[in-house]
Amino acid sequence: MMPTQDNSPRALLDFYLEAGVDALVGEDPIDHFAQADTPPVAVRPATPSPGALSPPVIRQSPALAPAAPQAPDEAALAARQAAAAATTLDALREAMEKFDGCALKATASRLVFADGNPTARVMLVGEAPGRDEDIEGTAFAGRAGRLLDLMLGSIGLDRTSAYLANVVPWRPPGNRAPTPQETAICLPFIKRQIELANPDILVCLGKPAMQALLGIQEPITKARGRWTTYDTGTREIAAITTFHPDFLLASRPQKRFAWRDLLSLKKALAGNG
Ligand code: URA
Repeated sequence: MMPTQDNSPRALLDFYLEAGVDALVGEDPIDHFAQADTPPVAVRPATPSPGALSPPVIRQSPALAPAAPQAPDEAALAARQAAAAATTLDALREAMEKFDGCALKATASRLVFADGNPTARVMLVGEAPGRDEDIEGTAFAGRAGRLLDLMLGSIGLDRTSAYLANVVPWRPPGNRAPTPQETAICLPFIKRQIELANPDILVCLGKPAMQALLGIQEPITKARGRWTTYDTGTREIAAITTFHPDFLLASRPQKRFAWRDLLSLKKALAGNG
């Protein structure tokens, strides 16, 4: 017998969720800031094509809308000031919880500050949290994190001997890459986090972290595995880039290069890098 087709809206939503869709967007941009003082608005895409599924009605509650818009430059300045004023990692987390200058905060479930041991000698920084991290509130909580644990384990490290964070601490909707503006706004926070954690070695996981923190514009295939220095603001520390575990999950042949980088990290930690 043919299975009966469930055409209910619930079935469609289940399908979307299973396919990884977890944020609703309409076809027309909505200025949520402008709506802050108006009652909830129903928004429909202009002209549905014949036979198309009814477009979703997106309601924006004024209660959820951010209080005031902030230009990116102003937001980056506010982030710099808030980050500089924090003198401990706990204070920095608190300042980031209060910060409203990055629009990603409105769509993310929570701030993903870090995971692991903030007093560890090695700090690894990725790009931004994904779905699992957004749900759990800790960095590298999902599949990429499990591979990262295996990578760390292969050189005798784990989350008690490594500190993990991201350049952008709020999950971009649908796991898209953070925009350059979002990255620029969040950069003062991760820089201050590195300064306060004060590790001996910084590991950039993937090209976005390498570009944002080390300013290296070369392809990661060339720059990975090469030792350089990162100025924390209070001292220079050794820094290296390797492939992001998300990339390694999709490109297994590259694992051998990541393995070389890990051995190089192990050597450096032993004091003869
Ligand atoms: N990818 C990242 O860059 N960071 C995480 O925390 C998880 C996945």
